[in-house]
Amino acid sequence: MLLSPAQAAEPVYEPLRDAAERQGVTLGFALTPGHLNQPGYREIAEREFDLVVAENAMKWDATEPSQGSFSWGQADQVVDFAAAQDADLYGHTLVWHSQLPGWAESISDPARLRDAMYDHIDAVAGRYADDVDSWDVVNEMWEGDGSRRQSVFQRVLGDGYIADALTRARQAAPDADLCLNDYSTDGINAKSTAMYNLVADLLADGVPIDCVGFQSHLIVGQVPSSYQQNLQRFADLGVDVRITELDIRMNVPASQNDLTRQAQDYRTVVEACLAVDRCTGVTVWGIDDGHSWVPDVFPGEGAALPWDAQYQAKPAYSAIAEALGAQVEGDPDPDPTDPGDPGDPGDAACEVTWTNAGWDTGYTGTVVLTNTGDAAWSSWTLTADLPAGQTLTNGWSADWSQSGATLTARNAAWNGSVPAGGSVQIGYNATHGGSSAVPTQYTINGADCA
Ligand code: G3I
Repeated sequence: MLLSPAQAAEPVYEPLRDAAERQGVTLGFALTPGHLNQPGYREIAEREFDLVVAENAMKWDATEPSQGSFSWGQADQVVDFAAAQDADLYGHTLVWHSQLPGWAESISDPARLRDAMYDHIDAVAGRYADDVDSWDVVNEMWEGDGSRRQSVFQRVLGDGYIADALTRARQAAPDADLCLNDYSTDGINAKSTAMYNLVADLLADGVPIDCVGFQSHLIVGQVPSSYQQNLQRFADLGVDVRITELDIRMNVPASQNDLTRQAQDYRTVVEACLAVDRCTGVTVWGIDDGHSWVPDVFPGEGAALPWDAQYQAKPAYSAIAEALGAQVEGDPDPDPTDPGDPGDPGDAACEVTWTNAGWDTGYTGTVVLTNTGDAAWSSWTLTADLPAGQTLTNGWSADWSQSGATLTARNAAWNGSVPAGGSVQIGYNATHGGSSAVPTQYTINGADCA
C-alpha cells in the first residue's frame, strides 16, 4: 500500500533537539542555505536540530574554486544560521577527492600539492576557527577493501597526507575537534577495520585526532548487525564517534512496509549511538525527501529522510523522537465521559493507545501510555494479552518480555518518570499467524486501563 501524506501523519513531539540534549547528544542536519526560503524546510530546520553541517557550502569547490581565490557567501550563511539557532557547527570537509576543483586535482608536484592543501586548510579552518566545533578534516580515504583510495592526495603525497592534514588543521583551528569521516564503515568490515587501524596508529604517533564520523548512508532493512559494536570499538580507542550523514533509502514510491522498516532502522541507529558513551550524536543528511542527493545518484530510490517532500513527518521522525525519549506535545483535553479520563469515579489512572502496522507475517506495535491520574509515575509496567498467534520479536524504549500470551513492558532507565497528564511512547515488533489485531485487555502498574 502506498501512503499519502495525510495517512502518514505522525504525532508531534517536543523539539527533537530538546530531547537530544537531555540524552547528552546533538541532533544535526545537513543544511543547504538556499532551501531556507521554503517555509516548511525552515520551520523544521529551526525547530528540531541543535547541530548544523553544510551539505555542500564548505567543500573545496565551493570555498576555493580557483587557487587562492576564496568564496565565502554560502559557507557564511551556514555559520550565521547555526549561530542564530544556538546550534553546534560541524565543518564538512577540508580534504576530499570529490567536489575538488580541477586546478587542485591536476597538481602532480608533491611540494605544490602540499602547499595547496595547507593553504586551503589555513584559509577555511582558520576563517571559521571560532565557529566550527568539529571538522571532517579528511573525507572518504578508503576503498571498500580497506586499501587507500587513490585520490590525488594519496597518489601525489602518499600515506602521510592524512596525518599532515590533521596536524595542519590543529594549527589552523586549535579549538576544533578533528575527525576522519567515511561511508560503508558503519559495521565491522575491511573498510572500517582499515579506519580503526589508522586511528590507532595516529593516536600512537601523537597525531591530533579527536573523532571519527560514520556517514551511514544506509539501505532500508540493512543496518549492519555490528553497528553498535563498531562504534564502541572506536570509542574504546579513545576518540568520539558520530553518525554524520544518516539517510536510509528504499525503492520509490515507498511502501508502508518499507516506511515502517525504515522507522525501525532509524531507531536502531539512534539507540546505538545513545548506547555508546562517546557517541556525540546523529546528523541526518538533509531534512526532506524533496531535497536529497539519493535520487540523483540512485535512480528509482529515495524516500531516505525523516520528512517527505511536503515536509510531512514520516514514521522515521517518530522513531527518532521515541529513541530520544521525546515527549508527545499537546496531549488532548481530558474527556469526562471517557472512563479512562480523570474525574470519573473508579477510573484507572491510565490510558493506552495501541496501533499495529502489519505486513504479511509480522507487525510493528506502537503503544502510547498516558498517565491520566493526579500523581506522577516514577516507574511503570504495562501488561497486555496478545491475540493468539502473536509472538514478540523485539522492542524498544522499554524492557519487553512475553510469557504465554502475556506481553510485559517495563520502563527503560530514562522514561520511568511520567508526570500527571504526561505520555510515553514505546514500540515492539512481533510475528503473527494471520492477525495483527491489537490487544483488548491491558494494565499499567496493575490498574486496568482497557
Ligand atoms: O552547484 C551546482 C550548480 O551550479 C549546478 O547548476 C547544478 C547542476 O547539476 O549542480 C550543482 O552542483 C551540485 C551540488 O551537489 C550542489 O547542489 C552537484 O551537481 C551535485 O553532484 C552535488 O551533490 C552533492 C554530492 O555530495 C557531491 O558529491 C550532494 O548535494 C551532497 O549531498 C553530497 O554529499 C556527500 C557528502 O559530502 C559526503 N558523503 C556522501 C554524501 C552523499 O553523496
